[in-house]
Amino acid sequence: MGGIAAVGVVGLGTMGAGIVEVFARSGLPVVAAEVDEAALERGRATLVGSTDRAVARGKLSPEDRDALLGRISFQVGLAGMADVDLVVEAVPEHLDLKQRIFGALDKVCKPSAILATNTSALSVTEISVATGRPNRVLGTHFFNPAPIMKLVEIVRTVVTAPEVVADVEALCAKLGKVDVTIGDRAGFIANALLFGYLNHAVSMVESRYASREDVDAAMRLGCGLPMGPLALMDLIGLDTAYEILDTMYRRGGRDRRHAPVPLIKQMVTAGLLGRKSGRGFYTYEKPGSPKVVPDELTPAAGSDAVPSRPFAKIGVVGSGTMAAGIVEVSARNGYDVVAVTRGSDRTALLGSALRASLDKGVVRGKLTEADREAALARITHAESLDHLADADLVVEAVVEELSVKKALFANLDEICKPGVLLATTTSSLPVIECAMATQRPRDVLGLHFFNPAPVMGLVEVVRTIRTSDEAVDLARVLCRTLDKHPVVCADRSGFVVNALLFPYLNDAVKMLEASYASADDIDYAMKLGCGYPMGPFELLDVVGLDVALAIQRELYLELREPGFAPAPLLEHLVTAGYLGRKVGRGFRDHSVP
Ligand SMILES: NC(=O)c1ccc[n+]([C@@H]2O[C@H](COP(=O)([O-])OP(=O)(O)OC[C@H]3O[C@@H](n4cnc5c(N)ncnc54)[C@H](O)[C@@H]3O)[C@@H](O)[C@H]2O)c1
Repeated sequence: MGGIAAVGVVGLGTMGAGIVEVFARSGLPVVAAEVDEAALERGRATLVGSTDRAVARGKLSPEDRDALLGRISFQVGLAGMADVDLVVEAVPEHLDLKQRIFGALDKVCKPSAILATNTSALSVTEISVATGRPNRVLGTHFFNPAPIMKLVEIVRTVVTAPEVVADVEALCAKLGKVDVTIGDRAGFIANALLFGYLNHAVSMVESRYASREDVDAAMRLGCGLPMGPLALMDLIGLDTAYEILDTMYRRGGRDRRHAPVPLIKQMVTAGLLGRKSGRGFYTYEKPGSPKVVPDELTPAAGSDAVPSRPFAKIGVVGSGTMAAGIVEVSARNGYDVVAVTRGSDRTALLGSALRASLDKGVVRGKLTEADREAALARITHAESLDHLADADLVVEAVVEELSVKKALFANLDEICKPGVLLATTTSSLPVIECAMATQRPRDVLGLHFFNPAPVMGLVEVVRTIRTSDEAVDLARVLCRTLDKHPVVCADRSGFVVNALLFPYLNDAVKMLEASYASADDIDYAMKLGCGYPMGPFELLDVVGLDVALAIQRELYLELREPGFAPAPLLEHLVTAGYLGRKVGRGFRDHSVP
């Protein structure tokens, strides 16, 4: 085994500077190369800034920072690479540039040196043939920010020598990284699953389907992601993201979902590259700063703080999980609640579900016994919609069937007083259908709570083409009083969260089906490379494969996007009854503890 004792990095931008830091932290001497003095200075400043921040946060001692920086030799050009054992290239995502650099490295570096590219989507094989040693070339795809994210995708081509892969795997272990080793396919694991989602999120903003803040908040609060897709685009860099998408589109079977949304190109042309230029989807304190500052698109503070009219009583129709959650949230936040079910047996079930959940809250220290009793005292149970005559808002959470919901809205229209908000919690049906079952479509909207409603902080406020601005504003304020974060979106299948989440899960299934990577590796890649709280297969088993399939089918039927067609493997697993944790088996076997 060769052993890697000295390394080089070419290009000290967003990724290169981070990769230098990772190497130097682990004690390796690093030659850090840039194209000219100005770029070298920028790279050095990035490294100094990053290590200073680590010192300020107590993650690194000042002595260790000095030692770390002392291990780095900053140089213009590639001449300093003559003695290193491994070079990682991290220059912009252009094949011709990378090929040129690999050709030059091949001449400068000793014959035993390993040449690695940090490309996100280009063909490692095509880069390798620019050298006389393609068997010593591979991809080492670090994640952004490199010092923090644990994953490295090691990309071997058909000619990469096994000992080269082994040496780099051993190096990753020394760096404290987790590696997955995979073949040379556009986007590897993580980007192949990530970039369709990012592009789709940009299209939502471009088409004014939802605001940048709302799309980002939806994915953070609805899925627990560390950052929203637009903030992530800014971190990646819009120029880099454009190149990655463009390459994936061309290499990955011309999937339209990877064709870069025109807004990205416009922003790149306008110099709005994201954090590195100080402005992208958001505006930053200065170029390179992670701190977002308000700009002309930032919503005015407190704009959804005060209701334009008093709200006291909330009606909830239904007796299932979502209805119980919404009743609980409303009562806990001080509203009088009328909970209407279809009969006394359902009322009894709802009552015991409510008590069990509130008891759990007490046990977990989330509320006192007195709070629980007060909440229960605010709830009135009823078995007729007539009791909703004086409610200020009615939320329905009955079965997900359009005919049932439409009949209910027609009834509510007759019973409820004028001007009240009428809301559906549907996650897949068109809200406009419910609205048009009434004579007051201006007051009808969607309030899409997430399960479990008492825990999840997000509500999607769905406006139809007939919903009034006043109703939307009122709904946003109301969500705030329920301690929920409202995001407003248009009435389209999947709203924001499901429309962005489920195609990604479906893509993960397709990747598994194509035998490109194992479920474990795919789960690792998304958790360790992108900071997701769960990998796609873990999440699918929790959500239920039948639920995921139904949502994916809806998206496919409404949007007619060929890439949204449900993965055959997902269909087969559902047919086989492997529905996930709830039955003990989904993508994984959960029957053995
Ligand atoms: N940004 C991300 O989130 C991310 C994540 C993983 C991988 N990548 C990949 O990493 C690579 C670099 O991306 P980035 O976002 O860091 O780009 P970047 O634009 O931030 O940095 C590229 C750097 O390369 C330098 N450079 C250009 N030509 C050079 C040359 N001839 N010699 C030496 N240096 C040169 C530039 O001066 C610049 O500093 C790309 O292949 C990209 O796809 C990016």
